[in-house]
Parts: sequence; structure tokens; C-alpha cells
Amino acid sequence: MDRRGFLKTGATGLAGLALTSCGSSGSGGGRGGGMSGGGGNLQPSLNTGVFSRTFFTPPELTGTVNATTGRKVFDLTMQTGTKQFTGQGTTQTMGINGNFLAPTLRVVQGDNVDLNVTNNLGQETTLHWHGMRPPSDMDGGPHQPILNGATWNAAYTVNQRASTNWYHPHPHGTTAPQVYAGLAGMMIVDDAETQALDLPKTYGADDFPVIVQDRDMAADGTFTYSASQMETMQGKKGNTVLVNGVIDPVLDVPAKQVRLRLLNGSNSRIYNLSFATGITFQQIATEQGLLAAPVSLTSITLSPGERAEIVVDFTAVTGQSFVLRDANSGISFLKCDVVATTLVATTVPATLSATLTPLSRTQAVRSRAFVLSMGQGNVYINSKQMDIARIDEAMTLNQIEILDIQNTSNMDHNFHIHGVSFQLLTRDGAAPKAFEAGLKDTVYLPPNSRVEAIVQFGVATVANAPYMYHCHILEHEDAGMMGQFTVA
Ligand code: C2O
Ligand code: CU
Ligand code: CU
Repeated sequence: MDRRGFLKTGATGLAGLALTSCGSSGSGGGRGGGMSGGGGNLQPSLNTGVFSRTFFTPPELTGTVNATTGRKVFDLTMQTGTKQFTGQGTTQTMGINGNFLAPTLRVVQGDNVDLNVTNNLGQETTLHWHGMRPPSDMDGGPHQPILNGATWNAAYTVNQRASTNWYHPHPHGTTAPQVYAGLAGMMIVDDAETQALDLPKTYGADDFPVIVQDRDMAADGTFTYSASQMETMQGKKGNTVLVNGVIDPVLDVPAKQVRLRLLNGSNSRIYNLSFATGITFQQIATEQGLLAAPVSLTSITLSPGERAEIVVDFTAVTGQSFVLRDANSGISFLKCDVVATTLVATTVPATLSATLTPLSRTQAVRSRAFVLSMGQGNVYINSKQMDIARIDEAMTLNQIEILDIQNTSNMDHNFHIHGVSFQLLTRDGAAPKAFEAGLKDTVYLPPNSRVEAIVQFGVATVANAPYMYHCHILEHEDAGMMGQFTVA
């Protein structure tokens, strides 16, 4: 079945459709109130500016070591469930080992992991380890479907530096509704370099996962996934922003340096995050791990799939509150109340990583173009839509290349590539912004923008299991803004 067919029925030109009825897609700053950015539901936001619910820290799973094989075993069940988000209406949801979202998986560089994934969703799915670097047949992309009732074993060696990653379904054409229903969790890699640093690292005490997602909620806090053609083109945006599945949570933070692992797990919303008081924080990591040195910032932009680790110093502000907000939507969505602590103080070191060896332009053998475009109600990469039977790019093993990624449309997109990390060389011809100067796997492309990223394809793909690259606005991904590559 061609799930993208409905897009082709739209007769209106895309640009006209967007500009006459929807306004811009919200990449810039400054849109005022808390209304939905995507049309559709016109309910006001359920974010009230009053924070009354308790912050939820997803449980941490460290795996069970098999005494014979030494492998770390994780049993994950993808299931349906229900959840009340406001104490009123009940929403049909999906979750992993629970009703909504998923446990935080915690692994160490060098671990051999066995991830046993059972699908009890009543529909086909996959489970992809976004930011992890497994062999391509363990990647959980659209080529590793898990039929309803089946169990899939993903076995691999964790072969990458410490980083904050995540896992979510990636079935061909139906990723957006499954993620929206609640299928997403964090996957954190530790390594010796990071463990040796004086960083906040006690999970749930001074080191918190912050999964930021929006949902288009009715007044009683229920939601269902639907996307009009316009919402599909703009990306489905919700009126309400949640953190770890909770609306307007309060987090009691210890009066010391605190690490927040920020993940934009939304289908399409782009956040420009800052504290309402404008305080400075330090970014210590991008998607693929530590920066060489911390970067002082007052705001950070995250497009879907992007992560950032930040450290906020609450040492001298016991009793005060700090509200995290999104300047793009005007929505405030998390309050941190600073409480006295007995935890030992930590101090972010001036040097974080000595092992980052940036690739230089002169090492690149070639530049490869990826043009993100829209037209006639469709979304394209290099003028093509995803065809699961077609390999779009054949990479040469160990070759260093420049990815020349261009958004030629007047809407937001981003670009995510599986199996590798990359580093930005330029953004619109200039040096990349400080908060995105580390190792990444996902990058934001505002309307009519261009980035160059340098990458080395260090792992060969397995037969019949290409890796993916795609726009991580999930409605675009499902509509075909994705391609496949091999490495040999
Ligand atoms: Cu987070 Cu190919 O995806
Ligand atoms: Cu991915
Ligand atoms: Cu897109």
C-alpha cells in the first residue's frame, strides 16, 4: 500500500497553501501565545504557566548480564495502554515496558548488548536506536520489521563514545503515529573518559533526562494522531508541550550543578530553549558526545531528534525557581525548584574531551549533495521520494566526504543519517554555531539554508540492510523524505 498517496491528491500549490492558510512554520523566534502552530486543533495550550505535576524520571535499565555469554540483556515489550494526562480524559497510548514512553537504557562503551524486542502493538513496527552505531542489520530501520506478536533480537557491541541517544519505531510510512502514541525512550552510553570527569552523573538526582514532546490535546488532555495535508506538509505540531510525558512538571533540583539531557522527541516542533530569567548554562555535549570544551549559552535550538547535554549551576540559588521555555511557541513547560542538597558539589572541567579529532576539509575526497525540497504537496530528497527497493547512495568504506545539505524550500526540515556521526564545517557559508560544533547525527535546516558536514563512513553495511538518511520531521519522513545508502 502506498501510504503516501493521499499527499498527491492535493491540487493546491504547496507554497500558496502554506502561506495563505497556515502562516509560517515557526522556525523563527517570537510567535506569541501558546496556540498550536500547525492549524488543526484550535484548543488553547494546556500549558498554563502553573506547574503542579511531579517531574517523572523514566526508570533506568542497565541490563542483566548473562553469566555464560557476558552479554547485557534487555527485554523490551512494545505495548498498547492508556494514560490520563490531566486526570480527566483517558488517551489510548503506546509504550515500552509501560503505557507511555520507555525506560532509559544505560550501556557502557564496549558492552555486548542483546536487545530483545517483543511487539505487542497489534500492528507491525520496528525499533531503531537513534544515534547508536550498530551494524546495519541491527539498526531497527524499515528493513527490520517486527511483526505483531514477534520478538526481534538486536545484538551488537556498543562501539562509540559516551552520548545521549534515543530509541523509537521506524516502520516504513507509519513512524509518526507510533512515536506520537508514546513509543520513545532514551539510550545513554557511558565511557571511561566521561566517567572520569567531575560532571553531574547521578541519574535522577543531579543528571536528568528531559524528553521534550508536544501533543495536540483536547481540553481534557486526550489526544489522537491525525494530520491534515497541511499539517503533514508543515509537520504535526501540538498545542501542549510535555516533559517525559508530563504537562507542566516541577522538578526539585539540588543546589549544585545539574545536568539536563535534552532530547527533542517531538514529531516536528523546533524549540528554542532558554530559562525565563535568561540565565547562562553550559553545553557539554552534542548528539554524539562531549564537546572539546563547555560552551556558555543562554538558549539552544533543537530540531526533532537532536539532543544536547547542558549543565545548569543552581549552587547559590536555593529556594529559587527556574522555568524552561520555548521562545518559538512562547510555551513554558518545566519548572526547576532549587532545594538544599547533601550531594557533593561538581565542577564542569574547562576541558571535556581530548579525544575529539575533527576531520578537516582537505581530507574529504568528494562532496555529496542532499537537496531537501517540496512541491505539489510532496517532500523530496534529491527530487526523489523514499523507495524501499532503491539504494540512493553507495558510499565507499572509510572514505571521508562532505555532506552538502541544502533546504531549498520555505519550510523547516532537518537531516539525520544512520550509522555515522558528522561534524559541521559550515552553516550558510559561515562557521557553525557554538552549540552545534560537536559530533552530531541530526542537524536543523531552516528554510532556504545550507550546511556542510564532514563524515567518514567507517562501517560497511550488511547485505539487504541499507542505512537511512532522512528529514526527522516525522510527517515528512513518512511522506517519503528519506533515502537509503550502502557502505562497501
Ligand atoms: Cu530517529 Cu532514522 O531516525
Ligand atoms: Cu536514527
Ligand atoms: Cu522535512
